[in-house]
Amino acid sequence: MAQIIDGKLISKQIKDELKEKVATLKSEGKEICLAVIQVGNDPASTVYVGNKKKACEYIGIKSLAYEVPEETTEEELLGIIDKLNKDDSVHGILVQLPVPKHINEEKIINAISPSKDVDGFHPASVGALSIGQKGFVSCTPAGVIQLLKRSNIEISGKECVVIGRSNIVGKPMSMLLLRENGTVTICHSRTKELKEVCKRADILVVAIGKPRMIDASYVKEGATVIDVGIHRDENNKLCGDVDYASVEPVAGAITPVPGGVGPMTIAMLMNNCVEAGLND
Ligand code: GUN
Repeated sequence: MAQIIDGKLISKQIKDELKEKVATLKSEGKEICLAVIQVGNDPASTVYVGNKKKACEYIGIKSLAYEVPEETTEEELLGIIDKLNKDDSVHGILVQLPVPKHINEEKIINAISPSKDVDGFHPASVGALSIGQKGFVSCTPAGVIQLLKRSNIEISGKECVVIGRSNIVGKPMSMLLLRENGTVTICHSRTKELKEVCKRADILVVAIGKPRMIDASYVKEGATVIDVGIHRDENNKLCGDVDYASVEPVAGAITPVPGGVGPMTIAMLMNNCVEAGLND
């Protein structure tokens, strides 16, 4: 029987710790503020943005919502970001991705001041992580580290295998595991002998975006399996990249979907906002 890593519980603990910090800051006259920009009304983005606003409300962070139409030009969006960069009462800026096709995502990410980059997507933030300097860390991988630490799962010296090399999850995840002294292997779609590589892992982080792809044949007995994926299956049921029913009996610890990594992303976003406020 695997230890079930309860992301809902751990994210609640983090949010409650932040709530206390924010209350202390408020009593000292400081209000933390996050600006969230959504261009257009993609339904999934609307749900994510709504959840971010709710988390801000719970913790006591002020949230400024910029819900601008699909037709907003790149120049107009850059104008909003520039104004927010210069506004001392705003500590964090987040542009919900994806942005419409006529807007260059890279330009937008680069325009956000690294000191307000609570998503951790700016090249300066990514670079800082890779050379061990202070900077904001992408929220999902930061959340995975918290899940491991708060579940007393040792990273130092362990074989860590990350499947997926995205800028938002796979790459920063690997850098964070390395920072924690793990021995890290990054796998991707061209990796040969994927199964054999995964079977070496003490900690297997799966972020490939393919529903239930990783079954027990990829997992070493007793390994910790972290599932970053989230999908709806043919029966409209939520599932991850890991075949939970197959893997749970062989794993030592595993994250469920939903209720594993998912809730941690917003908790770490809130953590980054509080950090941004403290740094200022
Ligand atoms: N779209 C999906 N996930 C994210 C995220 O973590 N940050 C932003 N800005 N957009 C997203």
